[in-house]
Formats: sequence, C-alpha cells, structure tokens
Amino acid sequence: MGPSAALGDQRASMEVVKDWNGIDQVVLRAPRGASARVISWRNGRGEELLFTSSKAIFRPPKAIRGGIPLCFPQFGNCGSLEQHGFARNRMWVVEDDPPPLRTGESTGCVSVDLLLRPSEEDLKCWPHCFEFRLRVSLGADGDLSMISRIRNVDGKKFTFSFAYHTYLSVSDISEVRIEGLETLDYLDNLCNRERFTEQEDAITFESEVDRVYLGSPDVAAVLDHGKKQTFIIKKEGLPDTVVWNPWEKKSKSIVDFGDDEYKQMLCVDGAAVERPITLRPGEEWTGRLELSAVPSSFCIKNLDPTRSI
Ligand code: BG6
Repeated sequence: MGPSAALGDQRASMEVVKDWNGIDQVVLRAPRGASARVISWRNGRGEELLFTSSKAIFRPPKAIRGGIPLCFPQFGNCGSLEQHGFARNRMWVVEDDPPPLRTGESTGCVSVDLLLRPSEEDLKCWPHCFEFRLRVSLGADGDLSMISRIRNVDGKKFTFSFAYHTYLSVSDISEVRIEGLETLDYLDNLCNRERFTEQEDAITFESEVDRVYLGSPDVAAVLDHGKKQTFIIKKEGLPDTVVWNPWEKKSKSIVDFGDDEYKQMLCVDGAAVERPITLRPGEEWTGRLELSAVPSSFCIKNLDPTRSI
C-alpha cells in the first residue's frame, strides 16, 4: 500500500497503479489529502481507517483479509456457493461510461465505476446472468461512499444476499462500542443463527461476536475511545447490519489473520441477509454505504437520522 496523496495537492484524482502482484488497483484522491483504494481508506492526515491483515493474501482467487470485500450473491455459508459468494474473489473491470445514477444523487468529488459480469465458471455454480456495478467515491471531506447496483439481465428471476464486509481499523477492540443497534433482534451465528434481542445500551466486545442485526437503522456509530474517533456508518437499501470480531481462539484458526489482530479490527457490514433480494428480469437493486470518520466530539450532528445519504 503506497502513501496517500501529498497534503498540499489540491486536485481530486483517480489513477490506476499496479500492486506487488502486478494486479491493477484504483486509487482515488480527494483535494484535502484523503485517499481510497479497494483495501485502503485514509483520512487527510494519511492515517489508515480500514483494517488489512499483515497476513492477507493478495492473489485471486483468495479474498483479501481486510478492506471492504463485497459478499454476493451469498452471505456466509447459507447456500450452495463458496463462503460469502464469489464476487469478492473476482477481477472487476473499470467501466468508463456506466449508466447514470438516480438524478441528483451526490457521488463525491472523485469516483471510479467498476463492473462485474459472471464468467462461464460462475454461471456453472450460479446460473444467473447479472451486471454488478459498483461506484466508489471519495468526498472532499474524505467520506467514502459505495453504491452497488445489481441488475438482472437474465430471462428468469434470481435471489441473492449481500454485504459490504467492512473491516474498520480500531485502536483496541476493548475500547470500542457500537451505538444504533440496541434493542434490535439479531441472529447469532455462534448459536446456529438463533434469534435473540439485544439487551445492552451499546455493543461492547469481550469475546467472539458474529451476529446479524435485523431491520437496523440506516445510521450507526462505532466509537473508538482509544483514538477518540467515531465512524459514522450510513446505509440505504440494506436492512441488516452484521457485526463480527473473531476474538482470540478463532483468530488462531484463520490462516490469513494474525493471532492478535482481532484487537485492531471490527467488521460492521451494511447487509441484506435475513430476507434475500429477488430481482425479476430487467430489474435493478441498489444498496448504498457511506462511511465517515470524525473526532468523537463531532459525532452528534452526524448521527441525525434525518440526514440521508
Ligand atoms: C463474517 C461472518 O461476516 O465474516 C463470519 O459473519 C465469518 O461468520 C467472517 O467468519 C469471515 O469470513 P471469511 O470467509 O472472510 O473468513
């Protein structure tokens, strides 16, 4: 991962660079120094905001352990496909002239459009023709936004689940809490997806957590007391929120993850899991995610639920 843009650079830009495996990566840079690439999102001071494991494997078909892998067309192992579906393991192409987004939709000051279509191999295990368009944008203030559009270009309907598997970088997991998910029902992946109701005022971490919070509000906050920083996570079209931290024992069983790295990460995913999405021929689904990182003292105004994406 290279350094972010020089602080004095006043122009927004998009460039394609090679990673150390010779694979193309898109880098977005905002005027005040923020930058983003598939596995990285940095603030204007160049500080990394996403987690990537020191043991991450950067070679397809292995998904990268970090950044924001996209889970599609299956979340987890609820289906016949590989864990979290195949989209995160595929090479996407840059699309120069994508179909326009909804009128008036703001997409930041610099963006890139990516496209995934199924290969012959994909069609053998998931026989549905789709077009998956992803716009990744960086706002002038450094906010990262992702808009996924999935279109059915097949002759029959299909159903999928989806998640932005967002690996946030945190100071220490014991210093972190999530606000916005209290009182919700959740499916606990550690108890055969049994349904429980959240009883705590905020979610804190003392052991492995692997849950799908159902019908979650479109704004949640991840407060990191160690960094005095708050992530504001806004979503649209994504009814659920997945929360995952593998904790100590599970970390040791994950080959591309350091034994102690669970302390520096937390996954909070905008997702559509409990009720998969069905698209009839010609229909398109859109799911949006917007991430901001603000000093914790600034977070109140950003949590205003009337502020839409
Ligand atoms: C989470 C799931 O979203 O992703 C967990 O809820 C899973 O059950 C985790 O272990 C990591 O998955 P993977 O396939 O990237 O190791």
